[in-house]
Amino acid sequence: MIRVGVNGYGTIGRRVADAVLMQKDMELVGVTKVHPDYRVETAIKKGIDVYAANEKALQSFRNSGYNVKGVLDDLLKRVDVIVDCSPEGNGPQNKLIYEASKVRAIFQGGEDHELTGLSFVAQCNYDNARGKNMVRVVSCNTTALCRILNSLSNNFGIYRARAVLARRAADPDETGKGPIDAVVLDPATVPSHHGPDVQSVMGNIDVVTMAFKVPTTHMHLHSLIVSLKKKATREEVIEALQKEPRTMLVESKLGFKSTSSIVDMARELSSPRNDIHEAVVWKDSVSTVENEVYMFMAVHQEAIVVPENVDAIRAITASATKEESMSMTDSSLGIRKF
Ligand SMILES: NC(=O)c1ccc[n+]([C@@H]2O[C@H](COP(=O)([O-])OP(=O)(O)OC[C@H]3O[C@@H](n4cnc5c(N)ncnc54)[C@H](OP(=O)(O)O)[C@@H]3O)[C@@H](O)[C@H]2O)c1
Repeated sequence: MIRVGVNGYGTIGRRVADAVLMQKDMELVGVTKVHPDYRVETAIKKGIDVYAANEKALQSFRNSGYNVKGVLDDLLKRVDVIVDCSPEGNGPQNKLIYEASKVRAIFQGGEDHELTGLSFVAQCNYDNARGKNMVRVVSCNTTALCRILNSLSNNFGIYRARAVLARRAADPDETGKGPIDAVVLDPATVPSHHGPDVQSVMGNIDVVTMAFKVPTTHMHLHSLIVSLKKKATREEVIEALQKEPRTMLVESKLGFKSTSSIVDMARELSSPRNDIHEAVVWKDSVSTVENEVYMFMAVHQEAIVVPENVDAIRAITASATKEESMSMTDSSLGIRKF
């Protein structure tokens, strides 16, 4: 059993913790929190051990009557791998703590590539992470782009890729964020950071991205235009995408007219938290003109990186091959193929 801790129990940390609990080869030793709020109660109700992220947090837990299991340092003594799900920017200081404890660590996409020198998407570079001490699972948008570009690259070769990202403004519980009535260029300059981030996984691929924020909380929407090295028909591109792991195709004629329909499908299927781990491509948007392929893709920002975190745990502990790990992860999380 791989003993796993999760440092930070927010949007990503709670999902990673639940996913670890579902793995037969992993034990969730505990999670950390800073604030003694309802999420501590829900963790305890699930039987998850809660630790304070630091000494100051320990004091506020004690003042609130919570008997937590200790602080982060205590958790680190009990785990083989720590998954850092703390807010972006905490990585550099946390890395020093993990190194001092000699614990392998996984960071999230809010940190820079340079923090670990290895940015991870399971189907692209699982083997590069085998036995490494630290890796970074890339952000939600980068993960989705890498899955699609991996498929197109392996099947047809990519001359260049261009993507415009309409990003959700906030996660559903982030009531302090906006906009609520505007479209915000994020950033106004080109490229956005997503293109270079894809390159941190896929090497010298020619990819440029632009991004803006829209007043929604549940999904991002990407418009992709990719020039292929080998001319392909629409049907050939669809066939390639259907074979790509963790990619789902939906059709507007079946009622998938918006990101809301996709979330509604997840609700109907009783997916935990309505999570969608797959990159969702509209089959009827896939079109080809000469060597160019076009498509729309939706990305559930809260969920898509969860399977990657689970695979990253197996990769850095060298406990399973890529195929074994992705298969275990996908069947435990109920990853769908439509
Ligand atoms: N949200 C997304 O859509 C998304 C998608 C992909 C990747 N990511 C990346 O995932 C990482 C985490 O993001 P998130 O959205 O999950 O953040 P979040 O919802 O704000 O959760 C952060 C968690 O970290 C805890 N925390 C705060 N300060 C801490 C510290 N110093 N040490 C340890 N824990 C601390 C918070 O504790 P309390 O709950 O007690 O306040 C909270 O549980 C970031 O790198 C982000 O860029 C986020």
